[in-house]
Amino acid sequence: MIGIMGAMPEEINDLVACLTLNSTQVIGQRTYYEGILWGKPVVIVFSRWGKVAAATTVSTLILKFKVDQVIFTGVAGAIHDDLAIGDIVIAKQLYQHDMDARPLMAQFEIPLLNKTYFETPEQYISLAANAVNLFLETISTSISALAAFNIVNPKIHIGNIASGDKFFASHEDKLALQKALPHVLCVEMEGAAVAQVCYEFDIPCTIIRTISDSANNEAHIDFPKFINEISSKYSMGILKALLNILSTL
Ligand code: ADE
Repeated sequence: MIGIMGAMPEEINDLVACLTLNSTQVIGQRTYYEGILWGKPVVIVFSRWGKVAAATTVSTLILKFKVDQVIFTGVAGAIHDDLAIGDIVIAKQLYQHDMDARPLMAQFEIPLLNKTYFETPEQYISLAANAVNLFLETISTSISALAAFNIVNPKIHIGNIASGDKFFASHEDKLALQKALPHVLCVEMEGAAVAQVCYEFDIPCTIIRTISDSANNEAHIDFPKFINEISSKYSMGILKALLNILSTL
């Protein structure tokens, strides 16, 4: 059973519309849709926003629905200058940028785990990369709104993601994060929390993010526009390719 989490209700609704539904259950203010999606048994859920919301949701997926793998799709703000709106990031290492128990321990270190990041297993990165590459091959025909967002030739990136309970919407905050975690590609609000829970339960998780904004002073304008018009098309395309690949294994 694969747990599929999304941080946007729009993208979950579109996926549920494609699901051969077996059951719907409401637990802790989340709705879990269980069924078959593109040949694979899945549970789909809208996580809500932030680390706590994501952590409780993934715990329910693991404990109640017994998922043995988690896939999270959603959007992120670009932190590294190489990224553009419409690019896709597959997480390699996931950091909690707001974890700071200094001077008791190093900045970003997760208390009692002796880790400063969580890492996606290599084989899951490569499966996700195959799916994203397949999706990107057909993106210009499958998403007509690309031009309206000045998205030309969107790229795949495999690299590090920072998560925390903050929406980045200023140049100063972006620079501070670039300085604190120079190798990080993008920022979002759930991935490293999901990765921590999956690490603690020894379950693989794959975090895939589409860049919706540049985490700068325009982020609060770019983000909702991207969510409303395009992000669920990315999630649908990527997940369809990924589940089709997983069905053949
Ligand atoms: N998710 C998408 N854009 C973001 C931003 N600018 N900050 C935090 N999370 C995001």
